[in-house]
Amino acid sequence: MKRKRLGILTAGGDCPGLNAVIRGAVKAAHRHGYEIFGFLRGFEGLVEPVTYIPLTARNTTGILSQGGTILGTTNKGRFAARAGVDQRVDLDPVLMAEVQATCEQLELAGLICVGGDGSLTVAQQFFEWGIPVVGVPKTIDNDLSATAFTFGFDSAVACATDALDRLHTTAASHERVMVLEVMGRHAGWIALYAGIAGGSDVILLPEIDWTYEALCRKILEREQEGKRFTVIVVAEGATLPDGRMVASGNAAGCRQVRLGGIGTIVAGEIERRLHRETRVVVLGHLQRGGAPTAFDRVLATQFGAHAVRLVIQRRFGQMVCYRPPEITSVPIAEAVRSLSRVDVHGSAVQAARALGISFGDELDPTPPFQEDVQTGDMSLMALCGEPETERESMALSAREPK
Ligand code: F6P
Repeated sequence: MKRKRLGILTAGGDCPGLNAVIRGAVKAAHRHGYEIFGFLRGFEGLVEPVTYIPLTARNTTGILSQGGTILGTTNKGRFAARAGVDQRVDLDPVLMAEVQATCEQLELAGLICVGGDGSLTVAQQFFEWGIPVVGVPKTIDNDLSATAFTFGFDSAVACATDALDRLHTTAASHERVMVLEVMGRHAGWIALYAGIAGGSDVILLPEIDWTYEALCRKILEREQEGKRFTVIVVAEGATLPDGRMVASGNAAGCRQVRLGGIGTIVAGEIERRLHRETRVVVLGHLQRGGAPTAFDRVLATQFGAHAVRLVIQRRFGQMVCYRPPEITSVPIAEAVRSLSRVDVHGSAVQAARALGISFGDELDPTPPFQEDVQTGDMSLMALCGEPETERESMALSAREPK
């Protein structure tokens, strides 16, 4: 009979709401008679030198609203189990055995792993090895297909929206073009949502091919309407018109290439082509820091509590997820199988197009709503042609710079 004890760790890049998950799990665990250990620095805390702290009411009080993670985290090192989309890297069996030994020695009834797609791929390997894990999804990118939203996303969007609000006033005052580069590695959710919330004129996404011609045309059209400024939001993972992703280098010890720099390239090209004063802001890790929004606190708290439920019910290998309006769970294996990318025919893109927001593609002049010829009603019909399934399903890893 195992002790009534469980473990929790936060792995991968941080995001607002991690502490809310920890607090939710600690409170739920204690209420059900479990003690809970928090492993430090992600999965690293599970192996020599094993490092953990008992999580108590005292050391978790007041953390609900705090950004970051009190347990620390890392997205590089021995447990970096994914190099790119669909590229699983199998972990060293010696490492797995060490993790198993730690869990057995500490008599953990279950281990809660909070992480994004890479960290959940590690958790899945733990599960396959026989370690009793459950997963909690996190990422500001919101790119996990098994959950409608990941916590951290709403906070990142709030941060990017605030930046766009600020850029608007200075863009208008100086009659400039402003380019805001936001995070979003494989998916443009942050750019899309912040772009709509912040009233951007152009949104450039990894999911939609765009051209400088269409982008510049939008700027000129606005000038013809008397608007002598333009605000553009671009996702770091968007590809240039020639298909290249823009990387700022390789982070030491990290398997994934570090993205960044597309905003500067776009701004430079606008100046070169149109001779309009253009400025760029790279929002970077501001999006990952700071207090979580109320939405993220609620989601993260529920995830923490439900992860404890999964352990109590011995439903290992499962990941909690949000299927509005309920929190439920799915096998981790299923959750890491595919990424959630922006639906280019979805209602958010359609609404943006209806407002005249440009995605830098050649479809711009066409309003997306057309009359239903049978009923005469206005209906939401995309004039975007057939879904470009081949392009959409193309593995992103193939597009990453070698
Ligand atoms: O996956 C989340 C994310 O914030 C991406 O949007 C971004 O490319 C990456 O993490 C940055 O990671 P790092 O903290 O290693 O720079």
